[in-house]
Amino acid sequence: MKAPRELWTSRVAFILAAAGSAVGLGNIWRFSYVVGTNGGAAFVIVYLIIIALIGYPMMVTEVTLGRKTHKNAIGAFKALAPNTPWWLVGALGVLAGFVILSFYSVVAGWSLSYFFKTIGGSLGAGADFEGAFVSHISAAWAPVIWHAVFMAITLAIIAAGVVKGISRTVRVLMPVLFVLLILLVLRSLTLPGAGAGLSFYLQPDFSDLTAQSILAAVGQAFFTLSLGMGCMITYGSYLSDNDDVPDNSAWVVGLDTLIAIIAGFAIFPAVFALGFDPAAGAGLAFITLPAVFAEMPAGVLFGAVFFLLLSIAALTSAISLLEVVVAWLVDEYQMARKKAALMIGVLIFLLGIPASLSMGAVDISVGGMPFFDFLDFFQESILLPLGGLLTAVFAGHVWTARTTRESANTNHGKIVIGAWYEVLIKYIVPIAIAIVMIFGLIEALG
Ligand code: TRP
Repeated sequence: MKAPRELWTSRVAFILAAAGSAVGLGNIWRFSYVVGTNGGAAFVIVYLIIIALIGYPMMVTEVTLGRKTHKNAIGAFKALAPNTPWWLVGALGVLAGFVILSFYSVVAGWSLSYFFKTIGGSLGAGADFEGAFVSHISAAWAPVIWHAVFMAITLAIIAAGVVKGISRTVRVLMPVLFVLLILLVLRSLTLPGAGAGLSFYLQPDFSDLTAQSILAAVGQAFFTLSLGMGCMITYGSYLSDNDDVPDNSAWVVGLDTLIAIIAGFAIFPAVFALGFDPAAGAGLAFITLPAVFAEMPAGVLFGAVFFLLLSIAALTSAISLLEVVVAWLVDEYQMARKKAALMIGVLIFLLGIPASLSMGAVDISVGGMPFFDFLDFFQESILLPLGGLLTAVFAGHVWTARTTRESANTNHGKIVIGAWYEVLIKYIVPIAIAIVMIFGLIEALG
């Protein structure tokens, strides 16, 4: 006898879990360095346009596919298009779960260890923040151990289940993160010299944009909203048929975007005020924020709380990545949830080891980049856009845009998905993704 599939216990439970998935390292760590390396304000504008034109319709689509089928990423496609190869889109998503979580957990591990470093006082005023970060990530053991700790927590939560594990964890922690970010913004904006950061972040110079940076904006939009790999299909699958899709999706997209934009206000004024390079890359948040904390009264306290919350935000995202893979094994192969969580958690941990070591301890590169960068490049430039593209083609042309839209509007709340959706999902979304993907790849490889 199979136990009945779990459902979220309330609408808020879904919004918090899905927003918990969306809001993570992508909003603070990744958003800030991607904006920094792509020239600032012009990139932010492109990013916002992409969130509206591609992000929201894709969110609605994925949540709808989930609620309709009550199935995992692969099962949803199988249910709607039996005996066709469309399940491969879900399989791409499961693969993306492995790829993303393996390096995501490494970064979450950095965040965990920064919590302890901050408490220990090694990141006080006058410290060499850049040097500390580089030596931290290029060490052999410590980052791998923190990665192990983080993966262990993630798999324990997923093993506990949707309601007891996922829901409980996200409830309290999201609002606290929000308040802390606001405090950081206030400190950052009042640093002498903060203005240069504001103009970098807010005054667009469109000559900065390249095909590569538009690809990066699409990649970041998918990443930050947890789209393109069946994550929102999976979370949507735990909605009941009576739950709304358009409003809930708007909440998730809105909260995620708000938090990313606020994080930019915490980071860029400080980057310029303290003389860092906004194009420094993956270390930006880990170098800049400790420097800001060091300049704050009670900086140790704020810093510690911040890195703890960043780790928790990462955790609520990591569980959603693991859930994509686990839900597939549980639904399709009736595997016990605990067993699936343990098995997949360990495999992802193993894949994360070379990612971590490639940051400096050992020379492990693929296609001329460190393995870590390769994994990020692979998910950003190929897995998520391709997954999103094919999901849009499926919803728009196979299941058909009309059916998807009607399904999305079943039991809707305030927002009703209009005919615009059909145009976007059939033409604009897939064509935009295809163009951007091809040009981005040509530029990256050429
Ligand atoms: N959205 C999360 C973040 O911004 C990361 C994440 C969770 C994710 N689930 C995902 C990214 C699914 C892509 C796909 O940190």
